[in-house]
Formats: sequence, C-alpha cells, structure tokens
Amino acid sequence: MSKKIVFSGVQPSGGLTIGNYIGAIKNFVELQDEYDCYYSIVDMHAITVPQVPKDLRKNTLDVLALYIACGLDPEKSTLFIQSHVPAHAELTWVLNTITYMGQLNRMTQFKEKSRRSEENLNAGLFTYPVLMAADILLYQSDLVPVGEDQKQHLELARDLAERFNNRYSETFKVPEPLIKEQGARIMSLQNPEKKMSKSDENENAYILILDKPDTIKRKIKRAVTDSIGEIKYNDEQLGIKNLITIYSVFSGASIEEIENRYDGAGYGKFKEDLAQVVIEALRPIQERYEDLINNKDYLEKIYREGAEKASYVAYKTLRKVYRKVGFIQK
Ligand code: AQP
Repeated sequence: MSKKIVFSGVQPSGGLTIGNYIGAIKNFVELQDEYDCYYSIVDMHAITVPQVPKDLRKNTLDVLALYIACGLDPEKSTLFIQSHVPAHAELTWVLNTITYMGQLNRMTQFKEKSRRSEENLNAGLFTYPVLMAADILLYQSDLVPVGEDQKQHLELARDLAERFNNRYSETFKVPEPLIKEQGARIMSLQNPEKKMSKSDENENAYILILDKPDTIKRKIKRAVTDSIGEIKYNDEQLGIKNLITIYSVFSGASIEEIENRYDGAGYGKFKEDLAQVVIEALRPIQERYEDLINNKDYLEKIYREGAEKASYVAYKTLRKVYRKVGFIQK
C-alpha cells in the first residue's frame, strides 16, 4: 500500500507568525513520517498583494529555512518553491474555466483582503482559491493540513475536483481538510476577534517565529486582555483564551493544568511566564534557522531537488488533464 498524500503551503508574504507555526507548520512536521508530504512555499500566491521583489526573495528562502528549522526533513518531505513548478499556473488556467464567479465572490478571504487593499483589487486576488485548488489537486492529495481560515478554500478545491471528474471522468482525488482542534485559529494579540496575520499593519498584533526575546516579552505584555482578572478559558475572555491556547501549545500543558496553575494569579505573572514559555520553545528553531540561512548552497540544493520531485508528479496529473479536456499532445 502506498502512503497517503499530503499537500500544504505557506506564503512568503512576510515573516512567519506563531499562528502560521501552530496552525500549519507544527502539524506538517507531525505528518511527515506517516504520509508522502509535499510542502510548498507559495510565492505565486504571495504576489496577489504587492511585494517588494528583494523582500520576496528573502522571505522565500526564509520560509524554506524555517520549514527545516521547525523540523521538516527534506529526506522525508518534498519541499519546493511553487513558481519552480509551472504546472501550478497551467492547471489553474484549466480550473478557472470550470469555476463560477459566484463561488469566488463568496470567499471571505477575498472580501477581507479586498477591503484592506481597495486600490489593488487585482484578478489574482480574486482567483487565488483556484490556484490553491490547482496546488492541491496536482499532487492527488488525500489530506491538506491548514488553519481554520483556509477551510472555505478547501471546499472549493473539493468542489472543482468533483466538477472536473463529473464532466470529464475520474481524474482528481477529492482532498480532505485536516484542521486541528487546538490552535486552528490563533488570534491577534491586539484584537482577539481577528486572526493573527503576518500582514497586520500593527506589529504588536503578532509574534514572529524569529522575534527576539525582548520583542516577545514586549508584545505579550501589551496583549489585549479584559478587566475580569481571571485566567479562565472561555468566550467571555477572548484575549486570555488565546493566550492560554498559545501557552498550552508551546508548553504541552493542558488547558485545565494552566487554569489550575494560575488560579488566583494576576495577568502580569501569567504573561511573564507565557513570554518565557514562547521564548524557550522558539529558541532551538531560531538557532537552527541561523545555521541554515547562512548555508545558501544547502538551501539551493533542497529547493532544486524538491522542484524536480514535485514536477514529476505534477506533470503526470497535468498531462492527464490536458488529454481529458481535448488538447492535442505535443
Ligand atoms: N492565525 C492563525 N492561526 C492558525 N493558523 C494560521 N494560518 C495563518 N494564520 C493562522 C495558517 O498558516 C498557513 C499558511 O498561511 P498563509 O501564509 O498561506 O496565508 P494566510 O492564511 O493568509 O496567513 P497570514 O499570516 O494571514 O498571511 P497574510 O497576512 O499574508 O495573508 C495556512 O494553513 C493558514 O491556515
């Protein structure tokens, strides 16, 4: 029996946050022994909002280094840069022709991002979910580990796979989302009703995986809480609830253990300890990252080999798709 296939990706659209780590990369690592995993750095997605070319290059290599620093093993998982496998753009075109405008209009991420960048309402932002469907379907993925925010996009990928299969005959596997219950949605430290996002204009809203200890302390100290004054995991105290989740993920302690430990303690003490927990958990990742980012030859070898392996699989699917829609083989 061959292993089931996993695909996921992260955009190099800025420094990665602990939301990206908890909601995505940490889970990627847990899957790599059991599944055949493809993890992409989705630079083509990133340019749907304006990027400074020099920064995009840096951020792309940073994500690769962070993937490895967080525990992804290039011997086990295929790590590659999306634009190195043109099949992603090619399949997107075909899928565009079976995607309804109405479906894309309903995507909440599009609505949110277009509100934020009204002057840059480009077609790429609108068809972003179709490119994401192509990413997933090219590898005949069984499972897609993502944060809660990507659930709607995944529904579209499933829908497109089924529509194509019905119209042309069985071609794509219909993928399932894999969303962990805990940490699926890490919230902004400044507004706990909004998800933590690397492109938030307020840098106190997020903690980056590469933030220095002092910065982490400062951001946690400034995190929005409430006037209730109790460390309890509930929906009346969204700020505290979010901080408890972060504490739990990084320390391994259960929610209940944390509530008991801080029974009667003030927010100040809790925040101080949380900062320490986060700093200690990120320290080994940051150290490995430093080594990797100074070893460009190694990173280049990894992304070249990754692109080769990914292309082999992706083009197998694309050739099948082209044949089914009626394109003449070259
Ligand atoms: N706050 C979050 N909590 C849990 N999971 C999250 N993810 C992102 N933010 C959170 C998950 O991280 C993966 C990679 O995300 P992405 O970079 O491809 O895009 P995104 O979801 O749009 O992330 P950001 O940080 O909000 O980026 P920008 O600001 O550039 O749009 C995904 O699996 C996502 O679910």
